[in-house]
Amino acid sequence: MTSSEFLFPQNFLWGTATSSHQVEGGLTNNDWWLAEQTGGYIYRNQGAGQACDWWNCAEADFDRMAEMNQNTHRLSIEWSRIEPQPGVWDEAALARYREMLIGLRQRGIEPMVTLHHFTNPLWMAEQGGWENEQVVVWFERYTRKVLSALGDLATLWCTINEPNVMISQAYGVGRWPPGKKDVNAMWKATLNLARAHAAAYWAIHELSPGAQVGVATHIMSWRPRRPWQPLDILATNMIAHLFHFLLLDMVTLGIMRVPGKRSTRVPEAARTLDWLGVNYYQRYRIGFNPSSAATLFVDLCTKAGVLKGPGGWGEIHPRGMFDTLKTMWQHYHLPIFITENGIPDATDEQRPQFIVTHLYHLWQALQRQVPVLGYYFWSLVDNFEWTEGYDPRFRFGLIAVEHETQDRQMRPSGVLYSAICHENGLPRELVERYTPTLLPELFPAG
Ligand code: FCB
Repeated sequence: MTSSEFLFPQNFLWGTATSSHQVEGGLTNNDWWLAEQTGGYIYRNQGAGQACDWWNCAEADFDRMAEMNQNTHRLSIEWSRIEPQPGVWDEAALARYREMLIGLRQRGIEPMVTLHHFTNPLWMAEQGGWENEQVVVWFERYTRKVLSALGDLATLWCTINEPNVMISQAYGVGRWPPGKKDVNAMWKATLNLARAHAAAYWAIHELSPGAQVGVATHIMSWRPRRPWQPLDILATNMIAHLFHFLLLDMVTLGIMRVPGKRSTRVPEAARTLDWLGVNYYQRYRIGFNPSSAATLFVDLCTKAGVLKGPGGWGEIHPRGMFDTLKTMWQHYHLPIFITENGIPDATDEQRPQFIVTHLYHLWQALQRQVPVLGYYFWSLVDNFEWTEGYDPRFRFGLIAVEHETQDRQMRPSGVLYSAICHENGLPRELVERYTPTLLPELFPAG
């Protein structure tokens, strides 16, 4: 389907996403900070340090968002700031978040607030983190505190960012703190996490009845490495189940289905999503590998000659946006936000095309009645990229940041995204001006 304008629905939300540890600076009480001190986890043993200095001056970047015509922003609250010790609350930190949320609203920017984006308070990590079933009580207590302090300032709440990535990296692959490779720990953490999400969901609705609550899940576009090979197909389906559907089934159907194990019912988690957040970035090919028991007999690979991100980053596959949205809608029938989408691209050579092509496929999904309510580009500013730290190849911002000086420079993709937000779509002259090579694909002659 084509259009001369590719207009998006009225009231569509256009924004960017960030997270506390990646932009705030000055965080010294969570498990990522500890990992930074321990060494061995992060590129050149770097730490987030001052990051983008949001704790002191986020408002300057809020001004930039407003100038860029964004009408929403997804940010996260840092648990280790609010509750530095179990049951001890930092009211000044809550006041600063209040100020930030008010600052966004005053600029016409609707906040989406994430309660947990990868980092755990040290006290919580020291007591077993997500493996300790007490985490359900702890997370609910924290959620209630945040809602009672900030609940009047936001309608959109995201309980947990990318549970699937956090759990697999922290307990399956061991690349993130606590650095375990232990399948049993992984299932235990998954169950606790779904229960913690559910407890938070019910608490948010109790304290703020108008709230809309979801999770943001990392969804990849998987494809069997050899599409005709039954074992590759089997491996692809298995990995999609474990990575995409396992947790989402728990928080929609209330059932945990781990292959080869008896199903566990989690009735309190059933129907605890008002919307589904999709973080879509990349595509991998999945191959069955009998000799890699450690990775569940699965190899992730990319195809030679296809556009990819740096390092182990996957293939850039815009059509995957459409396929992913369609699949998620068919499975869950929930309204969807694209809670993240972006590309590591320091030179900004790929980012403009990336944005236009992914939005084009999002628009196609809208035409098929998939209810996508908003789009959050990752990210507004270059920031601390977890194990990649400040590796210069992993720059995600529409605005380039020199972290030593805090100097900011808008990238061409930032100018383009501002225009898209302003136009609420992809009119032909905009594509012609910023990404002319895409004209034949988007506006074929005749
Ligand atoms: C996502 C994370 C986000 C950021 C982007 C690049 O998986 O949620 O914090 O690191 O990747």
